[in-house]
Amino acid sequence: MADFSGKHGLVIGVANKRSIAWAIAQIASNRGARLAITYQGRFEEHVNELSQGLDPAPLILPCDVTSDTDIEAVFSRIDRDFGGLDFVVHGAAFAPREELTAPFSQTSREGFRMALDISAYSLIALTRGALPLMEKRGGGSILTLSYLGSERVFPNYNVMGVAKAALEATVRYLAADVGPKNIRVNAVSAGPIKTLAAAGISGFSSILNVYKERAPLRRNVDASEVAEAAAFLLSDAGRGITGEVMMVDAGFHATGM
Ligand SMILES: NC(=O)c1ccc[n+]([C@@H]2O[C@H](COP(=O)([O-])OP(=O)(O)OC[C@H]3O[C@@H](n4cnc5c(N)ncnc54)[C@H](O)[C@@H]3O)[C@@H](O)[C@H]2O)c1
Repeated sequence: MADFSGKHGLVIGVANKRSIAWAIAQIASNRGARLAITYQGRFEEHVNELSQGLDPAPLILPCDVTSDTDIEAVFSRIDRDFGGLDFVVHGAAFAPREELTAPFSQTSREGFRMALDISAYSLIALTRGALPLMEKRGGGSILTLSYLGSERVFPNYNVMGVAKAALEATVRYLAADVGPKNIRVNAVSAGPIKTLAAAGISGFSSILNVYKERAPLRRNVDASEVAEAAAFLLSDAGRGITGEVMMVDAGFHATGM
């Protein structure tokens, strides 16, 4: 079992109790980590409420990942309070709703820019901010969340698929860049799970049904299963793994039809 005793971690992407990042935060905290959890503006109350259930109490900080000022403030506060950082969970993603309903050829320049900025570039900005804090600990582990829509076409996933392709390439380039500092960068590619972000994809429930019918395990995965794999990659148990996209999707990715 992944152990987080004495570790300090940053978790980005908690919106509510269904968030995959929240499932990861709970596992890491229950297994010994002290956490900083960030929220995006409107989710402040939810994140504060949820965090009351964690012991030790996490540091709760605002962070919009499109803001370099917010990102800088998060890392300087973590440096002050924790004196270093062992892991980062990146669970932020966004595309404007109209980009997830209109035909893909109608993707707007601004929608494309936003999706790629929030869902892929942010991993670079956060890794850059985490670097000096992880170097103080002699290394670290960074984990992001992706989806098979990076490689295959799913109805209405559209520009998010392009953003996930960029995110997975970013994982590999970052892994090569920061690996000599003993910092690892990986992704878990999760099967579909009903969350707030998923609710923005029209026809999402039919994707859930197809997975249930065709995945080798004949079911969908839940957030706790994704979180277990994430915890493995984040902890020392995954110390030999970097630049990896690990599929946690009941085996769906392996099927041909
Ligand atoms: N739910 C699924 O089916 C599924 C499958 C595979 C991968 N994922 C990925 O998992 C990750 C987490 O999503 P989730 O399904 O838990 O949904 P979620 O809605 O709970 O989480 C998405 C998070 O992104 C954050 N976010 C969006 N824009 C932001 C910004 N500008 N600054 C800071 N944070 C911002 C939101 O606040 C929210 O916390 C996403 O990367 C998503 O693409 C989800």
